[in-house]
Amino acid sequence: MGIHINPSILSADFSDLRTELGRISTADMAHVDVMDNHFVPNLTFGPPVVERIRAVSPIPLDAHLMIADPDRWAPVYADLGCASVTFHLEAAAAPVRLARELRALGARASVAVKPATPVEPLLDLLPEFDQVLVMTVEPGFGGQKFLDVCLPKITRLRRAISAEGLDVALQVDGGVSEATVDRVVDAGANVLVAGSAVYAADDAAAAVASLRGRAEA
Ligand code: DX5
Ligand code: ZN
Repeated sequence: MGIHINPSILSADFSDLRTELGRISTADMAHVDVMDNHFVPNLTFGPPVVERIRAVSPIPLDAHLMIADPDRWAPVYADLGCASVTFHLEAAAAPVRLARELRALGARASVAVKPATPVEPLLDLLPEFDQVLVMTVEPGFGGQKFLDVCLPKITRLRRAISAEGLDVALQVDGGVSEATVDRVVDAGANVLVAGSAVYAADDAAAAVASLRGRAEA
């Protein structure tokens, strides 16, 4: 696959999500940030809203669960039809069991790490996942500055994935823009989340195309 661009609707107008989803119909998936004011200091929405987003979205959903107790809640999002479900390694009691459950429910199983979480514990578990998400900001808010210190983790994961010939996507989330996309792709990411960089643009679809073009150049 080429580089996938998944805009985060965290920077969209929450009073008009149907229209906002329509603005990114050229994207690969819609990145949906679920926050519980417990795992992160912010609160967005939960299953009832995601169910409606799923119903009106022209593209598949990429759920990013920044919540406590994903062992209980992540399968709910798979059941709602999210094509990909990302839970945080820091919050999961049994990440391998949870990943297997998500796959059994028909979703892609994805695991995320915050900036201060090492990726080494994941290296032997990679075949259990369809994707690893490396956060390049502290999770909780859109529009933060990209953390360059996270780049070596992306490189190490890409090396491990290639060395084992695995089909595991490598997603990066936080501060991705025209200014940082080159570094992210050079490090080895192939799925890019961009919130403010896409939704702040007058033409969101053009911003997606421009990011993809730059990433694939
Ligand atoms: C942050 C969220 C991100 C956020 C990215 O906790 O997980 O998906 O929306 O926003 P930008 O691209 O503005 O950093
Ligand atoms: Zn996110």
